[in-house]
Amino acid sequence: MPKIPIPKIPDKVVPAPLRKPAKPSAGGEPKGQAPQDLKTSPPERQTHVQKLTDQAKEAPADVLAWVDQRTGASGFLTGMLYRKVPKGTNWFYTLGSATLFAFIVQAVTGVFLAMFYTPSTTQAYASIAHINNEVPLGAFVHGMHKWGSSLMVILVFLHMGRTFFFGAYKYPRELNWVIGVVLLILTMTMAFTGYLLPFDQRSFWASVVGININGTGPVVGPYLSDFLRAGPELGATTLSRFYAIHMLLVPGAIIALIGAHLYLVVKLGTTAPPWVRAERPKVAAPVAQLDAGVEGNGRGNGAAPTR
Ligand code: HEM
Repeated sequence: MPKIPIPKIPDKVVPAPLRKPAKPSAGGEPKGQAPQDLKTSPPERQTHVQKLTDQAKEAPADVLAWVDQRTGASGFLTGMLYRKVPKGTNWFYTLGSATLFAFIVQAVTGVFLAMFYTPSTTQAYASIAHINNEVPLGAFVHGMHKWGSSLMVILVFLHMGRTFFFGAYKYPRELNWVIGVVLLILTMTMAFTGYLLPFDQRSFWASVVGININGTGPVVGPYLSDFLRAGPELGATTLSRFYAIHMLLVPGAIIALIGAHLYLVVKLGTTAPPWVRAERPKVAAPVAQLDAGVEGNGRGNGAAPTR
């Protein structure tokens, strides 16, 4: 099987003691010429500034080496970034990472919004108006969070579609599919609980409708809607509860589950597209053929061919 070429690591990030010495012909004296007489032109002494500049140039590599010696992170990262992927891997395989990116954007913008938002029925709307009209870049960050939520829901569905149509839910990836289903529910929960937070007419009545729809579910439905409403009417406790679910409970669960999801993706590898045919299993050659000097049938080992 051909080896994956690992690109050369730039000298800037390799600590000086591990760097390969430059070839005599590279730089310095041109090839074929004798070195200059050291007596007539001695090498200039490094000034203090030059020494500091050299040390500063080495600093990034030194910091990376310090961290790497204590964590062994470079081995893990190399294994992760240079792992094999099946032949036929295409742009549809980026939908999972796109969903992950959308989640990170939501988490970062959400932290900034939480700095200015007040989860109170009397002040929530005013705090959002303050973010939009007065806080520098407030409207931009709020807009990213609002549009990003829809984008994340769309991406998670597209990603699920990709994994479904490529048969990635089958053995041995069933558990990752189940984790994915929980992630889908949690993503929808984020969108639902976030919608109430501005506490304007639209978000209020949409949440009433949403909670009532939950109440129609079999067996657990009524309990679920009672839990969400946190009382006979949608009010202050509902808002606090939605806020806690939206910014603490569900993001924590999503982060933990994405960790498990990606661990399984790296461990099991990704599924080849359905149109890439697996190599046929290698059939053991009969002993008689081996004796006669005929070896195997050369059809590979049945695994999906990798790039
Ligand atoms: C927050 C939501 C999610 C994130 C961040 C996420 C992230 C990812 C990433 C980065 C990959 C590897 C690259 C790729 O195949 O696209 C992946 C693979 C996978 N995901 Fe997700 N995912 C999420 C939700 C889901 C959902 C809703 C399902 C299905 C119900 C799902 C099922 C799978 C499966 C089965 C694989 C393995 C794909 C394969 O073997 O080819 N994921 N996910």
